[in-house]
Amino acid sequence: MIQLTDVYKTFTVKDKRSRAKKQIEAVKGLSLTVKPGEIYGLLGPNGAGKSTTLRMIAGLMQADQGQIQVCGIDTKAEPEKARAMVGYLSTDLNVYGRFTPRELLRLFGEFQGVDAKVAERRGMHLLEKLQLLDFADVKMEGFSSGQKQKVSIARALLHDPKVVIFDEPTTGLDVLTAKTVLDLLRIMRSEGRSVIVSTHVMPMVDEICDRVGIIFDGELHGDAAPKQILETWNAKTLDEVFFQLAARSAAEV
Ligand SMILES: Nc1ncnc2c1ncn2[C@@H]1O[C@H](COP(=O)(O)OP(=O)(O)OP(=O)(O)O)[C@@H](O)[C@H]1O
Ligand SMILES: [Mg+2]
Repeated sequence: MIQLTDVYKTFTVKDKRSRAKKQIEAVKGLSLTVKPGEIYGLLGPNGAGKSTTLRMIAGLMQADQGQIQVCGIDTKAEPEKARAMVGYLSTDLNVYGRFTPRELLRLFGEFQGVDAKVAERRGMHLLEKLQLLDFADVKMEGFSSGQKQKVSIARALLHDPKVVIFDEPTTGLDVLTAKTVLDLLRIMRSEGRSVIVSTHVMPMVDEICDRVGIIFDGELHGDAAPKQILETWNAKTLDEVFFQLAARSAAEV
């Protein structure tokens, strides 16, 4: 279970030329719940606050206000316990090129306190599901971005997390690789995990998300099944909902 209640996050950035400080309200009063066995799609344009939200759930960043719980554990009060529940995939494709996937997974298993044999078995099982087992013992320096993404996914899931947080898991992947990743997310759902994914990819939302939240300028607009969102906004596609939100936001300025 993932539960966010009235979460706020503001960044202060400095303009190097004018030296003026600027406040960026990245997340404004966001509340949402993802139940076990559910895939929630966080959908929004660039800069909407998706990654910030996911980073806060993953415990990589603290909210300024509000409460975040994973599996009933407060991420502020018990950060380490909460983090242990979470498998987080960032958009950063950095892998250690000198390592093979097997070596990397072994190392991450150690970091996470997973028994070495369990980590090996689970790691290889994940690589098999991701169709990367043939490359388990190949150095990652020459890996394609899709192969790197698969290794990062295996790494995120190695410790058997109850909560899965994937930031744009299919961006930059071809349709076959994307399908492999979506199939794995479906397995995660069937195993009763709470899954939250951010995306711009509309077909992915239709295909796998049970519920969708549209985030725009740090605020959540609509939190319902994809079909219901289209009905509410009287739109044919989720792109159209974005355009309506953009028009509304421009009119408010
Ligand atoms: N560490 C940070 N320091 C300063 N500003 C930040 C930081 N992280 C995010 N922001 C700002 O917060 C806002 C939301 O950023 P965020 O990365 O959450 O957007 P996003 O929805 O993930 O966008 P994208 O689709 O481009 O990945 C942006 O205006 C961004 O510049
Ligand atoms: Mg992002």
